[in-house]
Amino acid sequence: MGNVYVLDHPLIQHKLTYIRKKSTGTKEFRELVDEVAGLMAFEITRDLPVEEITIDTPVTQAKTKTLSGKKIGLVPILRAGLGMVDGILSLIPAAKVGHVGLYRDPETLKPVEYYIKLPSDIEERELIVIDPMLATGGSANDAIHSLKKRGAKNIKLMCLIAAPEGVEVIKEEHPDVDIYLASLDEKLDEKGYIVPGLGDAGDRLFGTK
Ligand code: URA
Repeated sequence: MGNVYVLDHPLIQHKLTYIRKKSTGTKEFRELVDEVAGLMAFEITRDLPVEEITIDTPVTQAKTKTLSGKKIGLVPILRAGLGMVDGILSLIPAAKVGHVGLYRDPETLKPVEYYIKLPSDIEERELIVIDPMLATGGSANDAIHSLKKRGAKNIKLMCLIAAPEGVEVIKEEHPDVDIYLASLDEKLDEKGYIVPGLGDAGDRLFGTK
């Protein structure tokens, strides 16, 4: 069964408070989201395998550890997911980045992928799907189905804030996917916003309305 991890590190929680504040402007919001994404990546990659190698330090030979070739892929869901990519890349610069853009057809209610571009070897990569606001869970659910259909085997989901409704959808549909959050909030309101949340993550990141 997939696990839900709320990363309650004091730095993450402190920065999240300022991300939530209505008075935080676009520049600061962007910077804080990047910083939190980096801090979250630090926790999410805690189980990456390492191997021992022998190196020469200026003093002596030493057996030290290095990442043992597990390949990472980041898959931000457009558009708000883009806001977390650079923060993660600052820690994992060799990660490849795919993109998924989708919407629900208002008539059929089926997901329509309007954009998808992925690394060619996604089946060999540990993929981190990035969806800052896990509200109903619809987009993340559809994106994860899309990745699995294309061969992805190892997927983690990273969100800033989730509503319980969204978490339930992912647990139900993708029990193999671990979910990493900075906060599990109270609920969704009648317009689909997470409460207390932070408003529209895409608009706040890109300064649109
Ligand atoms: N997407 C957002 O950006 N904010 C919400 O509260 C819900 C979905």
